[in-house]
Amino acid sequence: MSKDKIYVFDTTLRDGEQVPGCQLNTDEKVEIAKDLEALGVDVIEAGFPISSPGDFNSVVEISKNVRETIICALSRAVVMDIDMAGQALKEAKRKRLHTGIGASDIHIKYKFKSTREKVLEQAISSVKYARKYFDDIEFYPEDAGRADKDFLAKMVESVIDAGATVINIADTTGYNIPTMYGDKIKFLINNVPNIDKAIVSVHCHNDLGLATANSLAGLQNGARQVEVTINGIGERAGNTSLEEIVMILHAHPALNMTTNINTKNIVPLSKKVSKMMNMPVQRNKAIVGANAFAHSSGIHQDGFLKHRETYEIINPSDVGVEASSIDLTARSGRAALTHRLKLLGYEFTKIEMETIYIKFLNMADEKKLIHDEDLYELVGDKK
Ligand code: KIV
Ligand code: ZN
Repeated sequence: MSKDKIYVFDTTLRDGEQVPGCQLNTDEKVEIAKDLEALGVDVIEAGFPISSPGDFNSVVEISKNVRETIICALSRAVVMDIDMAGQALKEAKRKRLHTGIGASDIHIKYKFKSTREKVLEQAISSVKYARKYFDDIEFYPEDAGRADKDFLAKMVESVIDAGATVINIADTTGYNIPTMYGDKIKFLINNVPNIDKAIVSVHCHNDLGLATANSLAGLQNGARQVEVTINGIGERAGNTSLEEIVMILHAHPALNMTTNINTKNIVPLSKKVSKMMNMPVQRNKAIVGANAFAHSSGIHQDGFLKHRETYEIINPSDVGVEASSIDLTARSGRAALTHRLKLLGYEFTKIEMETIYIKFLNMADEKKLIHDEDLYELVGDKK
């Protein structure tokens, strides 16, 4: 049975770049956009053209330089924004508008000081207007995660009728839990009569640490596009991270879903984005953290050295990491120490190893992490 294709919509350069201190200049954005194309994402959200001349220019330059991937620009459901996005994407070979308006009562009442009826009218008229520039229109009911599901269904049906081709169910505040979000997607798929004319997309924020779990629940309930950022960067606690969702689908063939991502490019691009955006990746971050393929306790190290899969569910080379590492600490055992010494060219008898191991434990209690220089010292070799 052939797998369902999941479209990967990357918003590192828009939702990710909104993070304070992460701003990139146009050249840097073009460089990342080219890397995202090589990574195999289906859509690159390149920016929010009305927000600043710099962002407008970045969308123009990315459109000129990235010719295979769909280039998308964000707008509010406002004529002026849509015009700007239309201008910025003029040269794009494949272009998409991402437009939308708040759908939850809390947004309608406090942000727009409006009513459901007026917001719905604005949603419809903006999508109709956008057809002047675009065939491919993605609509986001903002804060859909907290919106009344019947009103949301009405909005989704109306904007599809008006010409929207992708519907982005944004959990803007990261409020949902997986069952809730999955049920919302299922409800829309089962109750919006024209839903077959659009692709349903998931866009989840990580305020409760559930962005990836919620996105997966959305996909399992029929969504076919997932919105992500490299390293999970994004507003507040961030967005669903590309590497997590892609590797979940990779590690679980029974889910029967696949993406176009060249997984070997994941870690190199993660490092580049982290460096350029000045945004360190936590060491224990799934897939791309420095510790993701590092084994440190004696029991794990022994098992790993006997058979990699005892403690690894992903082959590091699949995500572009050269090799797993065996970190030497006071929790390490003889197998790990013997392995690391062997890598440096030393082999000792069992009895010699006993003496070295005791010296090693004393050193490790003091130094915490033992490096190669420490091992040379340990075996009395002055390198
Ligand atoms: O989180 C959100 O609601 C967004 C929209 C602009 C899609 O980023
Ligand atoms: Zn967002």
